[in-house]
Amino acid sequence: MSEHKIMDHPLIKHKISLLRDENTGTRDFRVLVEEIAMLMGYEALRDLPTELVKVKSPVCESMQPMISGRKLAVVPILRAGLGMANGILALVPSAKEGHIGLYRDEVTHEPHEYFCKLPENIEERLVILPDPMLATGGSAIQAVDFIKAKGCKNIKFMCIIAAPEGFEALKKAHPDIDIYVGTLDEGLNENAYIYPGLGDAGDRIFGTK
Ligand code: PRP
Ligand code: URA
Repeated sequence: MSEHKIMDHPLIKHKISLLRDENTGTRDFRVLVEEIAMLMGYEALRDLPTELVKVKSPVCESMQPMISGRKLAVVPILRAGLGMANGILALVPSAKEGHIGLYRDEVTHEPHEYFCKLPENIEERLVILPDPMLATGGSAIQAVDFIKAKGCKNIKFMCIIAAPEGFEALKKAHPDIDIYVGTLDEGLNENAYIYPGLGDAGDRIFGTK
């Protein structure tokens, strides 16, 4: 049974409001994206299995829970997903990292793939797919198509802001994946930008235009 979750934590809400502010500069924007990804990652990784292992404290030996050997891969969707990757990796430092490069055509809004490099044995791993923006859903759907074609079955997509259109499209195309959304916005404008949104996430993270 897949999980679809919209975050409900005041810290996440506060930080997303700061991200939206057009006066938030590149440096603060990057820090906020990473912090939000970490807070969301805490929620998204809630179901990681644990196993009891022997731990010897200064007082005695006992059996204590540790994350069991499930392999993880964090695969940000370039470019903007890169901004979230380190926040998640801070929680699971031994996870491998892959990359899928997609850009949206400015006129058709269709995603185009330009890069892909994935860790070995990707099909055995839980794959976390971060991208701050889920607008039409085209990029996320294509990235999940791609990961599934490599044999992956356990996929968690994470975004900071989703438009209802993209959220519905992703759930319909891939009902079997978990989806974590920082906040659900009102909709898409005529350029398929999320409103109120935060503008172009990649440009704001990397300081490009
Ligand atoms: C943005 C964003 C998503 C995509 C969302 O990337 O980071 O990948 O658009 O839009 P969609 O849901 O309509 O597909 P963009 O194509 O601007 O590339 P960038 O991250 O390199 O700036
Ligand atoms: N990509 C972005 O970076 N922002 C949007 O609002 C939509 C797509």
